[in-house]
Amino acid sequence: MAEVSFDYENLTEVEGGLRRDELDKVRPRLREATDGFLEDPPGFMRLPKTGEYAEACARVAEEIRSSGATDFIHVGIGGSALGPMALHKALNHPYYNVLPAEARRGPRLHFAENTDPNTLSAILDVADPQSTWVNVVTKSGSTAETMANFLVIRGWLVDSLGNFGYQGRSIATTDPEEGFLREISSRDDLTVLPIPKDVGGRFSVLTPVGLLPAAVAGLEVEALLTGAARCADEVHEQRAEHPAVTGAAMHYLMDTARGRNIRVMMTYADALERLAAWFVQLWAESLGKDGKGSTPHGAVGTTDQHSQVQLYMEGPQDKVVEIVEVEDHPLDLRLPPAYEDLDGVGYLGGHTMAELLNVELDATRKALTEAGRPNSTIKLGAVNEENLGYLFQALEVQTAIAGSLYGVNAFDQPGVEAGKQITYKRMGRPGY
Ligand code: PA5
Repeated sequence: MAEVSFDYENLTEVEGGLRRDELDKVRPRLREATDGFLEDPPGFMRLPKTGEYAEACARVAEEIRSSGATDFIHVGIGGSALGPMALHKALNHPYYNVLPAEARRGPRLHFAENTDPNTLSAILDVADPQSTWVNVVTKSGSTAETMANFLVIRGWLVDSLGNFGYQGRSIATTDPEEGFLREISSRDDLTVLPIPKDVGGRFSVLTPVGLLPAAVAGLEVEALLTGAARCADEVHEQRAEHPAVTGAAMHYLMDTARGRNIRVMMTYADALERLAAWFVQLWAESLGKDGKGSTPHGAVGTTDQHSQVQLYMEGPQDKVVEIVEVEDHPLDLRLPPAYEDLDGVGYLGGHTMAELLNVELDATRKALTEAGRPNSTIKLGAVNEENLGYLFQALEVQTAIAGSLYGVNAFDQPGVEAGKQITYKRMGRPGY
């Protein structure tokens, strides 16, 4: 059972926190937004109970693994990359790619995201072209960064394996009907996985965008969907009372009524660092419109206690810190007693690393609270598929409902178009 909880007490109880009358005032709008959301739910709400994508991904993943693949390159950017990267970082071994093959549950995983030639060259340095699969992921089918990475990898595969070899080792994850990648996949006879039309990039982690790389690495895709389904069911039952939904109102008010327009997600587990990056895109690209929206920012505890917490405590009072706590760290390490005569070191002996991590979390939360710095906590029982599925779904719901409160369309991104048009023109794309 998914173990995810949300605690907003320190958004209201701190000095300068949200007042009861402010919350009461926004409640009817929150109910209206939730009713509208549930009456005509966005496409991502049906994903947890749509088994067909998981089944298709399991089939393709099996084909990849049984081919003796050593490397799998996921090519995509933005919503076509951040979800799978979050899953990989959270659930696979931190040194996954350098583990011996028998200690992994699948091929090495590489992400070609940016158009930095240094990164792609490095991937091609370590991957074995004789046994590499490439998955090119773009919903629109023509994102310049993704197609550029794909063209280089395609050339590299054709050089080593010939056309036939490239075709047999390439997957296109894209719109079910249209776009240039569709056209390429028909011409080259590539295996195709769909990104459903009604699910936008940053809401697509539970489509083949996230499910295929997860299945290739042997992660428990079913559990991911079970967690997400549980969240969706709870939102249906609890409606505006669901904590993910209430959180939309809390963060909206923190920004619009309190001027705290920076939302820091501080994850106390290295494994969750990319989850924050995924969330930053979700919140930023969905809500930053018409001069509205708050700025999301990722931080890692304890690391950023030695970098950013000074600013959170004593800098401009424009932030809300959302701590992500993990209760159970299964690979805990005991600190061996040593240097007991040295006060500044000896006290650590006998404690554990996880204990120190969570004591520091608690200490930071307490210090923020006592200084009147609003903060909230998302608690995960453990970092596992089910809890992550729940959390992805919850944060997507929260973002969509925050969109209604702000009065913006959470599902478009018109602000990125201008730069794309200039790039196309400068790079000589016909028609620009
Ligand atoms: O959330 C979004 O829609 C965007 O971030 C897209 O995912 C991103 O621009 C990549 O688009 P595409 O999948 O079409 O290549």
